[in-house]
Amino acid sequence: MDRFSPEEFIERKVEWLKREVDVGRAIIALSGGVDSSVTAVLGFKAIGDRLKAIFLEDGFMRIGESKRVVEVFSKLGIKVEVYDVQNEFIEALKGIRDAEEKRRAFRETFYGVFSRIAKNLKTEVVLQGTIAADVVETKGGVKTQHNVLEQIGINPLERYGFKVLEPLKELYKNHVRELAKALGLPNEIVYRRPFPGPGLSIRIVGEVTREKLDVVKRATLIVDEELADVKCFQAFPVLLEGKATGLSKSGSRKYGYMIALRVVESEDAMTAKYVKLDWNRLEKVRDRIVDEVPEVARVLYDVTDKPPATIEFE
Ligand code: XMP
Repeated sequence: MDRFSPEEFIERKVEWLKREVDVGRAIIALSGGVDSSVTAVLGFKAIGDRLKAIFLEDGFMRIGESKRVVEVFSKLGIKVEVYDVQNEFIEALKGIRDAEEKRRAFRETFYGVFSRIAKNLKTEVVLQGTIAADVVETKGGVKTQHNVLEQIGINPLERYGFKVLEPLKELYKNHVRELAKALGLPNEIVYRRPFPGPGLSIRIVGEVTREKLDVVKRATLIVDEELADVKCFQAFPVLLEGKATGLSKSGSRKYGYMIALRVVESEDAMTAKYVKLDWNRLEKVRDRIVDEVPEVARVLYDVTDKPPATIEFE
């Protein structure tokens, strides 16, 4: 791509969205990440309050996330409506252990729910913040990203009853961040670490259960707090499959979960290097996890780059 001009890109895409949604409403699933936030703001610039922003509480989001997103956007004058659909998602993933199957089940539930909401709101247009890396990885067979449809032969209009508009699909993360800055989004969104669409469901290796979800959510809160100021692309815990033996505070045997900590540096998510985290930091995170999440018996650190690993475990 020639030198990237955020201003020119914004103008071009706003005009395009105006033409594509000339009448009626559109909706967007706004997670509060930089991709969907930029897409939402472009959409509001183009069609104003004919765009409805929706936060899907699917159960795999971080603790407090829906409240945070509603607050951040209300400061920007954008109303976000929260739909609590967590039971539906947890039911849909029940019993599934395979990573790709889990991703497909997530995608089908996501668009099924969204299709219902779209019908209720009488719209057939969905805006989506898909970026180039999502498409490349899915088409390349690395993993099925939840938001890639048309590029792998799924016609959303036939299957779910809406057309999908993806204004960012040729961009990588660094350019999306430049757009976010140019659009005046707050730093907490511009520099927000990426969070995958299927959320914590792919940060539990193997079957997702309510108990495991609760454990990974509490561990995520600790990692987010302790490593907030570390310079990196992503930092998160993953709940591994199986259990390990340990000792409880009273000295008796305990059989608990294993958490792997993943901290990586990357430009565009296509390659990544693990971060040589300071040992004192690691120990602080370890202490807080084993103290505050007593279901956990071990904390491990992932030293694998991408390639050969991917950033997420699933
Ligand atoms: P991987 O694990 O493929 O991740 O190295 C590359 C980047 O993509 C994020 N990721 C996703 N984002 N939907 C998304 O919107 C998904 O299904 C998905 N899977 C992975 C991941 O967090 C990393 O930033």
